[in-house]
Amino acid sequence: MVNGVPQPAFYIFKCQQSAPPGMPKPSCVSQNNPESQTLFQYIAQVLMQKGIIGTVQPIQTSCLGRCQQGPVMLVEPGHTMYVGLTKEKIDRIIDEHIIGGNVVAEYVIGDEVWGEPIAPSAMAR
Ligand code: FES
Repeated sequence: MVNGVPQPAFYIFKCQQSAPPGMPKPSCVSQNNPESQTLFQYIAQVLMQKGIIGTVQPIQTSCLGRCQQGPVMLVEPGHTMYVGLTKEKIDRIIDEHIIGGNVVAEYVIGDEVWGEPIAPSAMAR
């Protein structure tokens, strides 16, 4: 048995992309949605309060390609994309998915914009 530093159980990739003011394109961090500017910090704070920040690693990313559904975050492993985030939704996701092990299905992105992935081996030329 190896007693090394344990790897994280989960990564939470939170999209932190913000469109410049006046840009019509939606973005996950927006001046029109003040709460959206606080969500990454909120995630880190809740993980810290619950004592699980060591095994759950929150990561700030740029655009994850689902801007219309923002604010979004991707939970790995599992490839679970959560959309339309608020603090309340984050509370439930951390309690029920990250700690409880059950995906919060009602906050997951719709299949119509999150179809099955295409294997790179099927596309590579
Ligand atoms: S801006 Fe967040 S997914 Fe594109």
